[in-house]
Amino acid sequence: MNTRIVVVGSLNADFVIDLERFPVPGETVTGKTFHVFPGGKGANQAYAAARLGGRVSMIGQVGQDTHAGWLKSNLASVGVDVTQIRHDPSVSSGVACISIDASGQNQIIIVGGANATLTPERLEPSRELIASAKIVLIQLEIPLETVASVARIAKRSEAIVILDPAPAKPAPDSLLACADYVTPNETELAVLTGVRPGKVTRSVARDLAKGLHARGAAKVIVKMGAQGALLTGEGGEHFWPALPVRPVDTTAAGDAFNAAFAVALAEGRSEIEAGEFATAAAAWSVTRPGAQPSMPTRDDVAALMS
Ligand code: RIB
Repeated sequence: MNTRIVVVGSLNADFVIDLERFPVPGETVTGKTFHVFPGGKGANQAYAAARLGGRVSMIGQVGQDTHAGWLKSNLASVGVDVTQIRHDPSVSSGVACISIDASGQNQIIIVGGANATLTPERLEPSRELIASAKIVLIQLEIPLETVASVARIAKRSEAIVILDPAPAKPAPDSLLACADYVTPNETELAVLTGVRPGKVTRSVARDLAKGLHARGAAKVIVKMGAQGALLTGEGGEHFWPALPVRPVDTTAAGDAFNAAFAVALAEGRSEIEAGEFATAAAAWSVTRPGAQPSMPTRDDVAALMS
């Protein structure tokens, strides 16, 4: 059985500051702690999927700087195939400056660096690997035309395409139509649909997701944070309630969800089971600081689910 998961996306060095509350424009506040963690939405999903037992290859780009080596070796340490993470010596590796307030919410500023120079042409040597995947995970932290190109290759080879439309930006209908699953959080759903609702309840999420189906998205999973996740589209609707945990850092919870969902599908588990597994993995991840350091093992998820 083909179980290969291929992630095409970003790698970032995350510079993380914990603080009591976010500053307002023009204000200086004093932070409590500072850490540097491996991150980037693509790398987080690759790391999490491998840590959960998936067979994972990552395609991406780093610079030729001090971050490049440890970003790759952290992925390799959990068994991710990193042979198709290449170097662009003309730019820095990607970085993200992340602030986390006392409630665990975050604010993130990204500098794309080598993620931003991963053009469709640079994907050419990885075309076969993408086409060999059972599941392809993509996000929006590399150029949109590259994401679209990956989605087309994956669609042609009948891989399951899971598109995480994060960070929030508009996406063309042609991209949505290549995805088997589009997985926005509440903010990303608002940006994708151009509608800014107040609170995103289940019924609001359902209504907004309909707009994405009309634009070609087969299935939508709205990641609703502490509420849970809503699946809509072909085959009907399902809601996975979030597990009650005390959040420490919500960074990369969405990445944990997508990775775990992909691992479960790759193993042949049902969509409903995959969502339960993903909900638990996401819940576990918010109880630990950092992006990749907060990704659970299979045993961690099993313990939380029981
Ligand atoms: O999804 C979380 C990630 O977003 C962080 O690791 C940071 O690098 C940003 O890309």
